Amino acid sequence: MSGAGSTSVDAVARHFEAQERKTLLRFITCGSVDDGKSTLIGRLLYESKLLYDDQLATLRAESKGAGSDDDLEFALLLDGLAAEREQQITIDVAYRFFSTDRRKFIVADTPGHEQYTRNMVTGASTADAAIILVDARKGLLTQTRRHSYLTSLLGIRHVALAVNKMDLVAYSKEAFERIEREYRGIAAQMGLDDVVCIPLSASRGDNVTQASAATRWYGGPTLLEYLETVRIDDDAQAGPFRMPVQWVNRPGAHFRGYAGRIVGGVVRPGDRLRVLPSGRQSTVARIVTRDGDLDLAVAGQSVTITLGDEIDVSRGDMLAAADSPPGVADQFEAGIVWMGEEPMLPGRSYLLKIGAKTVGASLVTPKYKLNVDTLERLPARTLELNGIGVCNINLHAPVAFDPYAENRDTGGFILIDRLTNATVGAGLIHFALRRSQNVHWQAVDVDKAAHAALKGQRPAVVWFTGLSGAGKSTIANLVEKKLHALGRHTYLLDGDNVRHGLNKDLGFTEADRVENIRRVAEVARLMVDAGLIVLVSFISPFRAERRMARALVEQCEFCEVFVDAPLGVAEQRDTKGLYAKARRGELRNFTGIDSPYEPPEHAEIVVDTTRTAPESAAEAIVAHLRDAGVLDPPR
Ligand code: ADX
Repeated sequence: MSGAGSTSVDAVARHFEAQERKTLLRFITCGSVDDGKSTLIGRLLYESKLLYDDQLATLRAESKGAGSDDDLEFALLLDGLAAEREQQITIDVAYRFFSTDRRKFIVADTPGHEQYTRNMVTGASTADAAIILVDARKGLLTQTRRHSYLTSLLGIRHVALAVNKMDLVAYSKEAFERIEREYRGIAAQMGLDDVVCIPLSASRGDNVTQASAATRWYGGPTLLEYLETVRIDDDAQAGPFRMPVQWVNRPGAHFRGYAGRIVGGVVRPGDRLRVLPSGRQSTVARIVTRDGDLDLAVAGQSVTITLGDEIDVSRGDMLAAADSPPGVADQFEAGIVWMGEEPMLPGRSYLLKIGAKTVGASLVTPKYKLNVDTLERLPARTLELNGIGVCNINLHAPVAFDPYAENRDTGGFILIDRLTNATVGAGLIHFALRRSQNVHWQAVDVDKAAHAALKGQRPAVVWFTGLSGAGKSTIANLVEKKLHALGRHTYLLDGDNVRHGLNKDLGFTEADRVENIRRVAEVARLMVDAGLIVLVSFISPFRAERRMARALVEQCEFCEVFVDAPLGVAEQRDTKGLYAKARRGELRNFTGIDSPYEPPEHAEIVVDTTRTAPESAAEAIVAHLRDAGVLDPPR
């Protein structure tokens, strides 16, 4: 991906360089079809008469490896959340290119249907300005507030409120001024301080590219004049040097370069750099591009940097100015925009992509969610599709970062569902939690190997999963008795029992089950560290959490046992009378009835309880452990 991306990126860059030195404005349009957005963009493109179609055809041919328009768009969108680009989610966002004598433009057009939040975040992550459309007849709507809030949240400072369909309100100055007044109130509340309101008619062409005779009372710019003159912030270039390493370029033994796109500051040969998160330092030797070496490279350019020293740099690391490096942390407070169809589950392990780095991460219950219409902070246990909130987030490994307010690239991340690989959230880092800087891992001398050696065994987790009443606890109990008889040191963690103590505070909602399994998986890990063979018997209905439990120990230390009983059979047994209660509606969220169970896909052992008696199942499990070497003396 990186390779192909960079080819087309370079092609685009060369193409733009070949143009006269015009500035490039990226902007986003927000509004619905009813507001006349397509008409407006259409007119803007048509009247500026400089559609890029033919140039694009050249480009398409030039950018090898980028066969389709989608690829091309990705490449052109290169300044986006880089991670998002690799994730390949151009959610319904159309990018169009045009230019006038004064400027070049890339417009991200995001549709206004209910997925707008998701689309807007995608389109807005790179934009310098936003055009927010309203219908002069309707005035400000809920979605106007949403669009404005997201604009502000995502760090776009310049907003044009396009009050469209002025012809349908007889070009009324009063109607326009009423909307303008109201909008300025909202904008101020949201911290948007550079707002221009323009009365226009996209269908008639008033004040789009030509000043309208019908609005002589209006003294401001046309929409095009606005776009041609609005300030393009060069904050990224003004900030300290930042470049996430997209890949290590090593064509032969004597060349080692680090390729990526500069997302902050400038860099010159001779500059001192720091590599994060390791903290090692070196000096820039060369800045290599396809068109030769550079004396200076700035934010927005894709380059390959070689260093003066042979130090360890890998993909995902960040190169940064040595005298003002980014922070490194594994716990943050962040603003989160949730984009998953399924609500966010606190405690679930997602993948987090920031710059070129991907790490595991889990969110804590939100501090609050936002009512975008009133800007009220509301208590929340989760975030639903399009929900916006603030959460703490725990990463499985430290990453280099800047607050989003300082750098949109090094402070923005996306969250990915591990199983579906779908992008489920976007995040903006507020700050690192101080505790993550102050709590350090303590090295201990009596470690897992020492514990295991004393016990003369290999520690392991045997994880039993299955419906309530499937027979997990019965079989786990028999396995423990057999291991005990063989002189092994074991411990059985049983769902019902652990829920009497450590997990007394948890119920049976999805979120509580995620937390239930997270805690017991951590306990199992500690017990493995203590050298024990741990038997875990929990329904553990979700694949994601079982996978997380597996990932906490060594691959060879985890054995998943699926105690398989069809729902009908488990229900017939109903030893605790709970199925009957659930059927009578006296017990909510009962697994198999109104709460899901996701059967394992790759369990080491499957016990078909309709055919195998508990005793023989236990024997088979012990035999498996023996074959797997768990019962051998420690290595
Ligand atoms: S888990 O889904 O979070 O892994 P866990 O194994 O801890 O569940 O607890 C399951 C036990 O709690 C069941 O064996 C049953 O006795 C009891 N229980 C009570 N309510 C429920 C419920 N709504 N769903 C499943 N089990 C329940």
